[in-house]
Amino acid sequence: MDEPTRGPRAGAPALDRAAFIPNLFDRIAPHYDVMNLVMTAGVWRVWQRAFRRHAGIPPGARILDVGCGTAELSLLLAALTGPAGEVVGVDVSPRMLEVGLRKVAAARPAARVRLLEGDALALPFDGGAFDAAASAFVMRNVADLGRALREMHRAVRPGGRLAILELSHPPSPLLRIPYLFYFRRVLPLLGTWAARAGLPVAPYAWLPKSLETFPAAEAFAAAIQSAGFSDVRFRRLTGGIVCLHTALRA
Ligand SMILES: C[S@@+](CC[C@H](N)C(=O)[O-])C[C@H]1O[C@@H](n2cnc3c(N)ncnc32)[C@H](O)[C@@H]1O
Repeated sequence: MDEPTRGPRAGAPALDRAAFIPNLFDRIAPHYDVMNLVMTAGVWRVWQRAFRRHAGIPPGARILDVGCGTAELSLLLAALTGPAGEVVGVDVSPRMLEVGLRKVAAARPAARVRLLEGDALALPFDGGAFDAAASAFVMRNVADLGRALREMHRAVRPGGRLAILELSHPPSPLLRIPYLFYFRRVLPLLGTWAARAGLPVAPYAWLPKSLETFPAAEAFAAAIQSAGFSDVRFRRLTGGIVCLHTALRA
């Protein structure tokens, strides 16, 4: 693992995620994919490529995508696992799932992806039902991180894999300073633009808050281990703006 980094801002207020997250994502669902592309300046594609290369998803696997949203990761997982595999996505936001279902229906070649409503904190599956569990940009949003990780551990069979992509805290001040500037100064401007365009502003306010209260990569890796996973590793992407965490279910 790399050197320790700064974690979440000390004294950041506790956030009641469970109360408003489904509503927030329902409201932004129609614009989510475009906003994602704009807010990450297209770098999301680079993170997807890193996920493809390093997540260790084997062909033919049955994979759970927790917080699948508009099925971006589900479709990538379906490409990795191939026609012999299957992807099951769960999300708390019905409107995000609607967008995802349309994308799955339009996918060519057809993708073996099922999407259902479900909560990361109480996954609607038997223990050991999956060969792997994956998630992208969801863990910052859950009300109880330890519980979400324990649920993923329960859902994966012994010997199965975990792969999580999540925003993180860049270790270098050279990157951290412009990164925080982007979050604190540029994103609010995007919020103003969004409001003028009639889009909801809440995501632009929520994003920096969700990151400030999220653990640094080392602490997140420790949480994955505490949930019961072994061989826990992480790889920083784009200077640590995003981390890909991988682990095995012992
Ligand atoms: C930032 S989006 C990421 C969506 C998708 N994974 C992607 O990479 O595009 C976060 C998603 O997590 C979902 N989510 C948040 N909390 C959840 C929970 N407790 N259980 C299931 N899904 C949740 C939201 O509804 C939203 O669709």
